[in-house]
Amino acid sequence: MSPATESTPSDGVLLDTFGRRAEDLRISLTDKCSLRCTYCMPAEGLAWLPATAVLSDDEILRLATVFLGLGVRTIRLTGGEPLVRAGVAGLISRLAQLRPRPELSLTTNAIALADKAEELARSGLNRVNVSLDTLDRERFHSLTRRDRLADVLAGLAAAQAAGLSPVKVNAVLMREQNLAEAPRLLAWALGAGYQLRFIEHMPLDAEHLWTMEGMVTADEVLEVLGRDFELRPVAHRGHAPAEEFEVLDGPDRAGWVAAPGGHRVGIIASVSRPFCRDCDRLRLTADGQLRTCLFGHQETDLRSALRQGATDAELAELIRVAVRAKPAGHGINAPGFRQPERPMSAIGG
Ligand code: 5AD
Ligand code: SF4
Repeated sequence: MSPATESTPSDGVLLDTFGRRAEDLRISLTDKCSLRCTYCMPAEGLAWLPATAVLSDDEILRLATVFLGLGVRTIRLTGGEPLVRAGVAGLISRLAQLRPRPELSLTTNAIALADKAEELARSGLNRVNVSLDTLDRERFHSLTRRDRLADVLAGLAAAQAAGLSPVKVNAVLMREQNLAEAPRLLAWALGAGYQLRFIEHMPLDAEHLWTMEGMVTADEVLEVLGRDFELRPVAHRGHAPAEEFEVLDGPDRAGWVAAPGGHRVGIIASVSRPFCRDCDRLRLTADGQLRTCLFGHQETDLRSALRQGATDAELAELIRVAVRAKPAGHGINAPGFRQPERPMSAIGG
């Protein structure tokens, strides 16, 4: 039996100095992507991680096992675009065999989902979050620099048919581009049975073009939605980053698909209403660096430790030490905030 599985129950949790317990691990499978969203990546010229730096499936499995021994319960696979990596279904079926069995989800742009949803579900994937910011083909093309809206819509339908539900759709709104489309996106999601969440644009773009004034805030989104929809805040949100709103009334109500928990819309206001106090997340980058905060400047090099022959107990200790040093919050609103060097696509959403 490896030392990590011999630990006492009180060792089996990851507590930081602010009393938060880390239970959710996001694993980035690659920093590459099949789109080039303007708010995320430059048109070209972003250097990829060298292949040797990227964790292998075996290495991911090994680290996941240690994290599960430390109390992690949910694993989300992200990127870049995770489905760009070969063999994701195989990796998922191996992760699904770990005990305690983690809940497995995937954040994807859905470009390659239509062909893969069924196999991913059979392999043990529980849910997907699909990124989609517009339903207008031209706008999709200009926002993502690729003419692939039809693939995303087909991917979404395939995910739902495969039972990867609730299918969540994440949309980032940009004032000049798609803010006015927010009500149409919501009406569409309610009619299709997808759970829509609007995400505030965070200072994580590769080109460092983000500005506080340029960002569409949660208040602005609610104001725009409020013109067409009657919304009521849902009280408790636990660790979930989305503030949820029940949609009581709005256009084409008769066509809304019945949803467990009622018709809802979420807002993830990471910047204007930070939820750092409830953050239970850890992130493992594609090159094996542990980050306790999206916006932190600190990384713990688990890949080198792993490749130099660290035992499970030694890896667990590195993780515990990193979690203890998790910062209280991202400090985006504080003077002196410095955007992390790595962009979202290299950290994992
Ligand atoms: N701020 C907020 N969301 C972002 N995403 C990518 N870059 C940013 C950013 N700077 C979103 C994508 C996707 C998820 C992984 O993160 O649109 O929904
Ligand atoms: Fe790719 Fe996601 Fe970045 Fe768009 S936001 S370029 S889909 S990683």
